[in-house]
Amino acid sequence: MKFFIDTANLNEIREAYDLGVLDGVTTNPSLMAKEGIKGEENVKAHYKAICDIVDNNVSAEVIATDFDTMIKEGEELAKIDEKIVVKIPMIRDGVKAIKYLTAQGIRTNCTLVFSAGQAILAAKAGASYVSPFIGRLDDIAYDGLSLIEQIVQIYDNYGYATEVLAASIRHTMHLVQCAEIGADVATCPLKVITSLLNHPLTDSGLKQFLADHHKVNS
Ligand code: G3P
Repeated sequence: MKFFIDTANLNEIREAYDLGVLDGVTTNPSLMAKEGIKGEENVKAHYKAICDIVDNNVSAEVIATDFDTMIKEGEELAKIDEKIVVKIPMIRDGVKAIKYLTAQGIRTNCTLVFSAGQAILAAKAGASYVSPFIGRLDDIAYDGLSLIEQIVQIYDNYGYATEVLAASIRHTMHLVQCAEIGADVATCPLKVITSLLNHPLTDSGLKQFLADHHKVNS
């Protein structure tokens, strides 16, 4: 399973990359706003800075919601760096834009996906990634992980090349369960990635090993 980090914060991206397990980055307009990035040129420069840290797969989201402006924005974003994946919302014009950009050889990530039907449309349009939001479904008492399971099954049935990118991951068990189900990618905050390191038996075991070593070596 690929690990993406879901942030626009450069320090967090560097920290995850330095761990050696990072395969990409996802951003969205809210995450960009959180970093105070505004204005077209600053936004592009920020995406470039992200691309300079990681090896591949930097999702940059369009703001437009109509086909013509979406594809224009998508083409502009794709010019920033070959690592860019254009993130497009799951709306009618978005599906058309995914189809168009895919035909131009531009990779896309279909975002704001909350149903299996939407995921089928994204795959049929040729999206490189589909992003079902687990946490936001859980928030409204739907089972986000079941949706991932359903989409993985459907894509397997038909051999769709679209990769299932589990998004809106809130904790480590979401991530582990996505891996069990067979999601291709999990995007999550830095805290979720680093929390995977933690186990009390690792801490107590290491403490004991070092204490035993020092007993005979001091
Ligand atoms: O980037 C899309 C998604 O991961 C957002 O997560 O936590 O805002 O629901 P969240």
